Amino acid sequence: MAAIKCIGILTSGGDAPGMNAAIRAVTRSAIFSGFKVKGIYRGFKGLITDEIVEFKTQNVSNIIQLGGTILKTARCKEFETSEGRQLAFDVLRREEIDALVVIGGDGSLTGARIFATEFNLPIVGLPGTIDNDLYGTDTTIGYDTALNTIMECVDKIRDTATSHERLFFIEVMGRDAGFLALNGAIATGAEAAIIPEISTEVDQLEELIKSGFRKSKNSSIVLVAESPITGGALALSERVKNEYPQYDVRVSILGHLQRGGSPTAHDRILASRMGAAAVDALLEDQRNVMIGIANDEIVYVPFSKAIKNDKPINRDLLNTLRRLSI
Ligand code: F6P
Repeated sequence: MAAIKCIGILTSGGDAPGMNAAIRAVTRSAIFSGFKVKGIYRGFKGLITDEIVEFKTQNVSNIIQLGGTILKTARCKEFETSEGRQLAFDVLRREEIDALVVIGGDGSLTGARIFATEFNLPIVGLPGTIDNDLYGTDTTIGYDTALNTIMECVDKIRDTATSHERLFFIEVMGRDAGFLALNGAIATGAEAAIIPEISTEVDQLEELIKSGFRKSKNSSIVLVAESPITGGALALSERVKNEYPQYDVRVSILGHLQRGGSPTAHDRILASRMGAAAVDALLEDQRNVMIGIANDEIVYVPFSKAIKNDKPINRDLLNTLRRLSI
């Protein structure tokens, strides 16, 4: 394989706080090691349309604290076709980019994996998603910030729930994963979390009501993971209205505010370590791997394992939540 001279970076899929810290870390570590760096705007879309700018260290000054991504992001349908990927590859050659660092979630790393295999390209992925649903890393870039945002919102809703003695269903993001809902519930002292990972095993709403969760309280907060599997907060509130009309129920869907904001220290450090590790991985001739951090150690997780390898929830957390919400 020819030596790598120039590394391209892109962010793709849903943005996540800490992506800028990751862009900064990749850029600076790469320049430190003698590589040229090019920033690719708007994810794979910008790779196809050649929206590419050479990055110097100054291009990433003063961004570590910013939410969102200075490179912009997109979900690109064209890149899902082999014609689209061929166009992207032609642009890479023209721009003399020899390797890529792709920062994104499950869908983006799936695209990266196909692209790397098709064209025998060195590609390293960084897990950038608030959902925390990538296997092989303890947390993903953006997850901790989103969790803290959820905590602040739920604390505020708790005030009004208490005053009015209401049952609140608060819907949080996570796609098909319940990490935000479950840990958000523990962090806010919520009465329960309804998550997709156990939705097929038990009727979580029925279990909650049967547990007599109102014995010692007049108000309750239940975090619900958005997902067709849980049905979402609105569907659950309709069920309560029909099946348990004695409850005064309200719904709050937190939505995209969970994706914004300045990254926490945890996410900035995670993104900085992972960004530097991505460059180390390319120096070590790694390809088709996602950088993870497990037990505080950098790990290289093959794309095939990181993606769609259903990252399990820690069932002890469910137990803790149950015990603490009596
Ligand atoms: O994957 C991140 C995420 O925020 C999910 O939690 C959510 O389901 C999805 O993206 C929303 O995507 P969009 O912003 O494209 O509507």
